[in-house]
Amino acid sequence: MSDTSEKLKLAILISGRGSNMITIHKACQDPYFPAEIALVLSHRPDAKGLTYAQEHNIPTEVVDHKEYSSRKDFENEMNSRIEPYKPDLIILAGFLRILNAPFIEKWPNRILNIHPSLLPKYKGLNTHARAIDDGQKEAGCTVHYVVPELDSGPIIVQKSVPILEDDTPNTLAQRVLEQEHIAYPEAIKLVANKLLST
Ligand code: GAR
Repeated sequence: MSDTSEKLKLAILISGRGSNMITIHKACQDPYFPAEIALVLSHRPDAKGLTYAQEHNIPTEVVDHKEYSSRKDFENEMNSRIEPYKPDLIILAGFLRILNAPFIEKWPNRILNIHPSLLPKYKGLNTHARAIDDGQKEAGCTVHYVVPELDSGPIIVQKSVPILEDDTPNTLAQRVLEQEHIAYPEAIKLVANKLLST
């Protein structure tokens, strides 16, 4: 990668503590990282990650889903708050609301998600409990492009961890989260370098 001047703009969508967003923000401090955060948006006004973003002078927006009577209105409002920042990529980082086709299709190949399983295994919720209950030996995380079908878009990066005999969903989630924090910056770097070179 050539220099520090060309960077992709990220809009990061969160629902809660935002540890993936924080890790991405830390990666962006490297002058050779090919992206910068333009916006952090949450649908929950009390999302803890918003405080981190504000303390680090990252612009934030809140679109409280409870204030909208339909998904369509909620997603249209999110879109109109995101667009002025002109992001190159939308990064779902623990964004726990399902996005619908009309929103996703506005950003073709421009939305990334991190999911706490080795997709295509364990789409949806409670991934760690289901993997333990099934006697799996391995779990992990996946960064993928978002398509209208849930947790199904092309995979960009996966990281795996062992499932230990005495694991609970919480201990496993912690081990996987450490890998998420490696996987997401790695995936953004791959995608950004690809977009910058085309
Ligand atoms: C992460 O483990 C992420 O993989 C998961 O939510 C957590 C958010 O943590 N996402 C999903 O389950 C999406 N289906 P964070 O707010 O600390 O980044």
